[in-house]
Amino acid sequence: MSDVNRPALSHERIRQLDHACLWHPFTPMQAWFEEDPVVIVHGDGNELIGDDGRRYLDGVSSLWCNVHGHNHPELNAAITAQLGRVAHTTLLGLTHVPAVQLAERLVGLAPPGLTRVFYSDSGATAEEAALKMALQYWHLSGQPGKTRFASLVQAYHGDTLGAVGVGYSETFHRFFKPVLADALRLTPPHVRRWRDRLSHDEALDLAVGEARDSIAREADVLAAVVVEPLMQGAAGMWPHPPDYLRALREATTEAGVLLVCDEVATGFGRTGTMFACEQAGIAPDLLCVAKGITGGYLPLAATLATERVHDAFLGPPAAGRTFYHGHTYTGNPLGCAAALASLDIFERERTLDRLGPKIHRLEQLLARHVAPLPHVADVRQRGVMVGIELAADATARRPYPAADRMGARVVLETRRRGVIVRPLGDVVVLMPPLSITADELERLVTVVRDAIVEVAGT
Ligand SMILES: Cc1ncc(COP(=O)(O)O)c(C=O)c1O
Repeated sequence: MSDVNRPALSHERIRQLDHACLWHPFTPMQAWFEEDPVVIVHGDGNELIGDDGRRYLDGVSSLWCNVHGHNHPELNAAITAQLGRVAHTTLLGLTHVPAVQLAERLVGLAPPGLTRVFYSDSGATAEEAALKMALQYWHLSGQPGKTRFASLVQAYHGDTLGAVGVGYSETFHRFFKPVLADALRLTPPHVRRWRDRLSHDEALDLAVGEARDSIAREADVLAAVVVEPLMQGAAGMWPHPPDYLRALREATTEAGVLLVCDEVATGFGRTGTMFACEQAGIAPDLLCVAKGITGGYLPLAATLATERVHDAFLGPPAAGRTFYHGHTYTGNPLGCAAALASLDIFERERTLDRLGPKIHRLEQLLARHVAPLPHVADVRQRGVMVGIELAADATARRPYPAADRMGARVVLETRRRGVIVRPLGDVVVLMPPLSITADELERLVTVVRDAIVEVAGT
């Protein structure tokens, strides 16, 4: 192992310190203490390297954010160059070069009409800003009664309380229920297709009908409808057709309700286009982006708003219309520099043009190796976002008992075979970096297949 890859501490010492001092996110800690942790010390392209020198394919883009691979020389250089200028300076009362340059680029790339960029530092904070903007917008526009949000059943918009209120998941959020805002839940097409076993068209018709009726009925109190466009990620990778998104846009426009698109997961190429909204030909009033914005290098997020929303906040300071919201590291210059470099790579390497064949290849590999397995009930794909649903009885869609922890066990098995993926319950999620090669795609899918066969027994 080269010196640069050699950790400063022994594996045993790292394990001791980790178990003594760390509290890992989304991790059952008691089970964690029984595991020998994989310690990542280095990244190289689409692979991560452990302290024992083992190489792992990063099959989930380090939690859905890496875009062009790890340790990319251009991204490293952009961050280092900015570091030589200034690491952090605030956007409260000051401005800086990478923030304005990135804002101009984002406005140029985003769906039409989104002309204002409000920075923050994670997907959840981008979402919180959008929710508060929507509430204050209606208040300032003379409709203070519009205080409710609508969102999709099982949506996920982040872990801060406002975001949890619109993105409820029983498993994740039941402890916080008493303090959460009571969002109106719309049933997306997949729930009817899967639960009620309806055809694609029947499910879509019902979902659109329900959304139109509910939005029209609640128009007087609804501030915004919030949606993850085309793919509900954390719900278990559930796609909906562009027609559903178009219907939500039409219904919100007709009812005078804002539409917030949460592209935290789908943005920056994951669904095959820069933003998922493009595939439905719609533009929201507020757009949330994070994760892939910096190529997956640094925590940065943005909430983009239309001029109409932004202008409602204008007035003399004494009028008190200001959006009093922000975070210390809002628009951090290192993050903005990384984001600019990532967008340069998108252009120079024609990342999106080269993605189409990879998406197609992934589809073929999944159809050949994974979909026919007896314990795979469904394979859902949109772009490079994939969910593989495991079931005790795939035909009857009978799930495994939760105590079996099938998803977690399959993921451990893939890791033993040198591929890192993550489960969402019994859905195995694949979301490789856009830079993944054809060979690596094959390795990803065949390892996942072998792991499922090993754990499920067939
Ligand atoms: C659609 C969506 N919105 C928001 C978030 C929250 O992002 P973060 O973890 O950066 O707060 C996520 C994270 O997975 C997400 O998938």
